[in-house]
Amino acid sequence: FAFTAANQQWAEAQITKYPEGREASAVIPLLWRAQEQEGWLSRPAIESVADLLGMAYIRVLEVASFYFMFQLQPVGSVAHIQVCGTTSCMICGAEDLIAVCKEKIAAKPHELSADGKLSWEEVECLGSCTNAPMAQIGKDYYEDLTTESFGKILDDLVTGQVPTPGPQNGRYAAEPLKGLT
Ligand code: FES
Repeated sequence: FAFTAANQQWAEAQITKYPEGREASAVIPLLWRAQEQEGWLSRPAIESVADLLGMAYIRVLEVASFYFMFQLQPVGSVAHIQVCGTTSCMICGAEDLIAVCKEKIAAKPHELSADGKLSWEEVECLGSCTNAPMAQIGKDYYEDLTTESFGKILDDLVTGQVPTPGPQNGRYAAEPLKGLT
């Protein structure tokens, strides 16, 4: 792994934002940029970030393995699906969504689909509990899912369409609260 010239320049600029001796503070943005470049964080990518920051590999791995936003193994070339399995989503049907993942993507989390386009995993609460059950795909939230709407989203992704994020049941969650305008 090596950062592209543009990413290397960007990474060095990030590091200069922090006081001398505190370069490790740039670890999350650098990991994020490495993942954006490669699609996931390989060991060489993590080692590159560690070298740039003067950190031990294990310290950077500790950060990368803590957050669900970092992927430590290859993901689908089109999308990695993260289904919330915490309480609100679990009560509202997360297990049914996971069954859809098993049927349409792969039997086990982190396995690639046969065509390599999709992968999935179950994650902890993503903070969208009022719109449960939900899943994060890329940087977007897909909420108020049913097995039907979720299955169609997965089908659309495979055929190159971009499903519309947000509540999938017609509910619009961003109405301004009365009295605050
Ligand atoms: Fe699923 Fe919070 S429990 S988003």
